[in-house]
Amino acid sequence: MTRTEAQTLLKANGQEHVLAFWDTLDAAAQERLLAQIATLDFAAIGRMQAMLKEAGTPAAAAGAFEPAPVEEPEGDALAAYVAKGEELLRGGKVAVLLVAGGQGSRLGYEGPKGAYPIGPVTDRPLFWFHARKILGLDLTYGTHVPFYIMTSETNDAATRAHFEENDYFGLPREDVFFFVQGMWPALDPEGKIILDRPDHIFMSPDGHGGTLAALERSGALADMARRGIEQVFYFQVDNPMVAIADPSFVGLHAAKGADMTLKVCKKREAHESLGVVVVRDGHCAMVEYSELSDEQMERTMPDGSLWLAYGSPAIHMFSYAFLKAEAERNMPLHLAHKKIAHVDAAGNVVKPEKPNGYKFEKFIFDVMPNAKTLLTLAFDRTQEFSPVKNAEGNDSPATTKRDLQAKWRGWLTQAGIALPEGVPVEIDPAYALDAAQLKAKGLLIG
Ligand code: UTP
Repeated sequence: MTRTEAQTLLKANGQEHVLAFWDTLDAAAQERLLAQIATLDFAAIGRMQAMLKEAGTPAAAAGAFEPAPVEEPEGDALAAYVAKGEELLRGGKVAVLLVAGGQGSRLGYEGPKGAYPIGPVTDRPLFWFHARKILGLDLTYGTHVPFYIMTSETNDAATRAHFEENDYFGLPREDVFFFVQGMWPALDPEGKIILDRPDHIFMSPDGHGGTLAALERSGALADMARRGIEQVFYFQVDNPMVAIADPSFVGLHAAKGADMTLKVCKKREAHESLGVVVVRDGHCAMVEYSELSDEQMERTMPDGSLWLAYGSPAIHMFSYAFLKAEAERNMPLHLAHKKIAHVDAAGNVVKPEKPNGYKFEKFIFDVMPNAKTLLTLAFDRTQEFSPVKNAEGNDSPATTKRDLQAKWRGWLTQAGIALPEGVPVEIDPAYALDAAQLKAKGLLIG
């Protein structure tokens, strides 16, 4: 892109101020700024500006809704779903998609969150647990499950280097596909792009909803098509307990021809910060915990259980066809009023005391109302969910390590192996993906 092309584009979109400091920049800085301008999606910026105009009107309330029905298959039905899932895994029809582009600000860890050491005995990182589960699937089903990992500009190089240094945790390199999520500018209240340096536009990640566009843009969807992928398991980087592409989940979703299936678990308490899956106006949707009133969160059923008993930890199945169709649509935007460092008229960097601009994000669950068939499957959180979100307290490394230990001890007990209290345990998922596999192998070592 040349300066003249940039000028024309910016002028047409009312953003000429982006070149305000052009004459003060050296050639390298000018090049960098032009490269950044070339990445701007002015159609999306137009949608952001339209949204800002409406921001004065109160946000729509969650409205009237009912909790979505929850599937809890047992016995023969469950066995049939497991068989279906296993068939798809064996046939190489299942891919795994990890979103790891977030900034992990609550945990406050330098580096990609996936590199955070969580192994209670070995300090192995979150990525190790995820990758070894995929290797476990490869070994169990004699297949190659491709692993698609979404990073962001801020952690892409470090994430790739981490996999390189660890020899891809034993996975074949050709089955690991990194792709980078989009970045967006922030806007001031007048809809102007914010410069955080004279030669730089402030940009932030476009949210986990950016996954769809990034899958398309990066060629990941084309790669899935080439491999004949039919179903995609989606999860977040912070939960080392997750059961990756477990056959019952894959099988239920595929057997019922669902576009999307979400795993849901019983909330720890009424106010736990998990979104809930609801039916509203005949469509399924996610209502975030921040949108729920105290009354809605605390309402109980005649048997004393919570009305909104289940929460979503963002563990999903998508059909490939649904992902592909959704990648071609515009997703809704969500805006957040934030403090954003910016330059003043003289080019000096100002750190604001109050929110001065708007960041925009897309959320993956906004595809839900477009699903023709959407299901939820209940799971046992003691086996599958304990995320590392905070540095301390709930959902912190300490609680995750505690929960991992409790789960593995339970597996060992089921395998007939009694461990004295206090002895730390860690099980390589490539050795045993679940209690049954451990029991089969545990008999050899026990
Ligand atoms: P969270 O909302 O928990 O955010 O992301 P986070 O960035 O990990 O942590 P905080 O909020 O800054 O403390 C949930 C999942 O979505 C991914 C994260 O990497 C995590 O796996 N994510 C989030 C993205 O991939 N991109 C984003 O833009 C945002």
